[in-house]
Amino acid sequence: MPARDIIIDTDPGQDDAAAILLALASPDEINVLGITAVAGNVPLPLTQKNARIVCELAGKPDVKVFAGCASPMVRKLVTAEHVHGKTGLDGPTLPDPTMPLQSQHGVDFIIETLRERPSGSVTLCPLGPLTNIASALTAAPDIVERVQEIVLMGGAYFEVGNITPAAEFNIYVDPEAADIVFKSGIKITVMPLDVTHKALVTPERVNALRAANTNVCSAMADMVDFFERFDTDKYGSNGAPLHDPCVTAYLIKPELFTGRFINVEIETASELTLGMTVADWWRVTTRDPNAMFIGDIDADGFFDLLITRLARL
Ligand code: BDR
Ligand code: CA
Repeated sequence: MPARDIIIDTDPGQDDAAAILLALASPDEINVLGITAVAGNVPLPLTQKNARIVCELAGKPDVKVFAGCASPMVRKLVTAEHVHGKTGLDGPTLPDPTMPLQSQHGVDFIIETLRERPSGSVTLCPLGPLTNIASALTAAPDIVERVQEIVLMGGAYFEVGNITPAAEFNIYVDPEAADIVFKSGIKITVMPLDVTHKALVTPERVNALRAANTNVCSAMADMVDFFERFDTDKYGSNGAPLHDPCVTAYLIKPELFTGRFINVEIETASELTLGMTVADWWRVTTRDPNAMFIGDIDADGFFDLLITRLARL
């Protein structure tokens, strides 16, 4: 199988960094056409910078990084410095990037790439709020049928919410964008909290990262140490969830994941449950399925893959 062409849309974020590193470490399976930054965990000037820091950490300064939207489609930006720190990548000390930021807007890059490449050959991998993706689909409806698949991190059903009692962060920040994406008709695979909360970085797994003793693995371990302080306090679990690399791991080894093809709708009106992913897991409605909603993961297999691949960089 030739490597799959993807665009990573991201708001780094330590777990976004892990997802990007896993993709860049896996050229046999994944060809990163470009990385588009979006405002989310921290504002856009930091997410675009962090994306470049991560590419340089991976030793891949030639990857094209674009800045996309600085705020959600209709709402004010909500950020998550309380989880990711002031920079979004708190933990290790990493140098400022020297690779350039591309001058093209991230949304234009998504549109142009989908129009130029063969139809059905480009997969979009959103790891943050869906603002860039929905903006592209809205500005250029002709690209909808050209997308091979969207594999995204966002939402929750059994785990409900992490930023409000009812909503997961990526969907909550831009629910109108999420609504556009879930209604687009594009093939969608979703990594909700239901699965990412099973991808826990236990002390043994952090030790395995450190034992790999490479620059990249040590930096990743330092990032994990930083955000674990917050997450393990919050969840009382034996390690923090590593959300976003579930997306890139799925592209490499889909057999690590199982889920259900179901209907998923986004709450955009209620103040109380704004951004909720109303997932018909039990198939109690007649609404048409629109997403493969992942529910389970082989966590040991996932961390084996992640650590082995990161150690290659
Ligand atoms: C998601 O929100 C962000 O804080 C993480 O990077 C991840 O994409 C988890 O809810
Ligand atoms: Ca993210």
